[in-house]
Amino acid sequence: MSREPGVDLVGTVRPVALEQLGLLEGEAFLARLDLVLPDLRDALEEVYGAHGDVARLVPDLVADALAAATSRPEPLRVLDRRREVDPSWFLAEDVVGYVCYADRFAGDLRGVREHLDHLEELGVRYLHLMPLLKSREGENDGGYAVEDYDAVDPRLGTMADLEALAEALHERGIALCVDLVLNHTAREHVWAQKALAGDPAYRAFYRFFPDRTEPDAYERTLPEVFPDTAPGSFTHLPETGEWVWTTFHEYQWDLNWANPAVFRSMLGVLLTLANRGVDVVRLDAAPFLWKRVGTNCQNQPEAHRILQALRALTRLAMPGVLLKAEAIVGPDELVPYLGGHERYRPECDLAYDNQLMVMGWSALAARDARLPAQALARRRQVPRQSGWVTYVRNHDDIGWAVGDEDAWAVAVDPARHRAFLADFYAGRHPGSFASGADFQADPGSGSVRTSGMTASLAGLDEALEHGWPADVDAALRRVELLHAVAYAFGGIPLVYMGDEIAMRSDPDWAAEPEHGDDNRWLHRPRMDWVAAERRHDPQCPEGRIFSALRAMAAARRSTESLRSDADTWVVNQGNPRVLAWVRHHPRAAPVLGVACFSDGEELLDATVLRHAGITDPRPLLSSDGPLDWWSGQLRLHPWSYAWITTT
Ligand code: GLC
Repeated sequence: MSREPGVDLVGTVRPVALEQLGLLEGEAFLARLDLVLPDLRDALEEVYGAHGDVARLVPDLVADALAAATSRPEPLRVLDRRREVDPSWFLAEDVVGYVCYADRFAGDLRGVREHLDHLEELGVRYLHLMPLLKSREGENDGGYAVEDYDAVDPRLGTMADLEALAEALHERGIALCVDLVLNHTAREHVWAQKALAGDPAYRAFYRFFPDRTEPDAYERTLPEVFPDTAPGSFTHLPETGEWVWTTFHEYQWDLNWANPAVFRSMLGVLLTLANRGVDVVRLDAAPFLWKRVGTNCQNQPEAHRILQALRALTRLAMPGVLLKAEAIVGPDELVPYLGGHERYRPECDLAYDNQLMVMGWSALAARDARLPAQALARRRQVPRQSGWVTYVRNHDDIGWAVGDEDAWAVAVDPARHRAFLADFYAGRHPGSFASGADFQADPGSGSVRTSGMTASLAGLDEALEHGWPADVDAALRRVELLHAVAYAFGGIPLVYMGDEIAMRSDPDWAAEPEHGDDNRWLHRPRMDWVAAERRHDPQCPEGRIFSALRAMAAARRSTESLRSDADTWVVNQGNPRVLAWVRHHPRAAPVLGVACFSDGEELLDATVLRHAGITDPRPLLSSDGPLDWWSGQLRLHPWSYAWITTT
């Protein structure tokens, strides 16, 4: 049992836990407490030790976790039990995800409930609904400016609707993921309003500065997130003459996580939200929680420790609930969010594989898979208890995060390549098939990001405009190809709403006045349910992509080698236009993934199969039917893919 000199926390908690939770659940809670306490104390000591209040903080937080465990509804406790028995439930081969805004998908939360058949048809077992808590009126960054964490946005429904939806999802075996915006609140949040009114307890929830001295010092090394529309990271408050930290927009005030009261309040928000039936909590903007002068104020050790402490307390209260880090950071900074530090420290269960996404688009534009092969082969394995979410694009822009070291390793100039990708996907590069748009061009750093729906970036707009069937076919093949990588590389594949029926960028994205200067709305369209009716017609784009994604989900389901926790390694082979990787799980035959980033035919040496341990190859799934052999080599059609296994 974990003890501190003179303090036996487990002993103190024991009678209360047994009384509140009963013998069996109480003992289970105490066993979890034993397990997480060292990690929790360690993490909090490092973050809040200087304040000297950790000895008081820990029992308070454990009491909060116990209260949340006590009020946890029974059906959710049943889920907890099952997940404690099978802690890798979310890494299973049949878990496929879908992401949408409730309103854009189906009007509101009740509407979402009416469209669950659509998700089931796609094989979805994980649904991420974009921010749905009450956000401020007017501009709210797509819901990422929360005014009230205890209320569902009235435009989407009520807490009761959210609970009913979670229940309906659970009945179908679908887990629900919801955003928790923990780096900042809207300036309209009651904490911010009290702070503005001068309440010292709430002033300590944010970071105010009397003048520009400290902001200037920080800004010397702070990158800007929205250089174009929201430059700088601080906002002047005419009410008080001060400056407040606002990493994102002026109406999003960064919380002061150096204050333990912020930690405790946010823990409360997290546990309450999860008790509504949320299975996976997406921790928005996780890298930004800790600020340190002289740094970019991302990925600071304390930010990781805060996540580790949140994880320990969530596990304690509700062991079936997962944390997912939204950390869109450089390739070398990613794995720590999954607990991969100098030693394993349980942190988040899931994180976005931003690198795989960027590398897919890079290969598609360059017709060259060497950079992806280099970057993906080099990075560290993720701890087995955790996994990626993989995706072709998401609701944000694509930032061209090409690592300098990786680019130079394959003789590519990183800055030029980043510029090439931005030009290519904005349709500026000669011969480009894409029709995306620049997002937040920053003349200072030279960085340009990209907005657009998958199908539009892959060339469908251009192709339909010219009406050449071969171009339409190529564009759709590219959409499938990228999904075939996301579905098989390792992780929960996420389909972003509309991509399953090849929807193109929204021409009316700027129609809502509050979206006008944010072209990420190009790829946040309203679901086209009329087009979705064509999803079974193989002659049209909707049917092509929908049936391809269904087939990918079905093929995944058939082999444990495509589980998220099966090993992945990139295969070195001679063809620069082909990305090949092996998936392996001890209980199943290996799978070789092959993705051909070329508009011509390519050959792959058959020895690759042997090296992968595949003796009698057969396609588990492929874009072009049976394997096509040509004088001992595998012939790959333009933009083709295959998942090859052995009989
Ligand atoms: C995350 C969200 C993004 C939002 C930002 C600020 O990065 O994905 O959409 O703008 O956080 O909350």
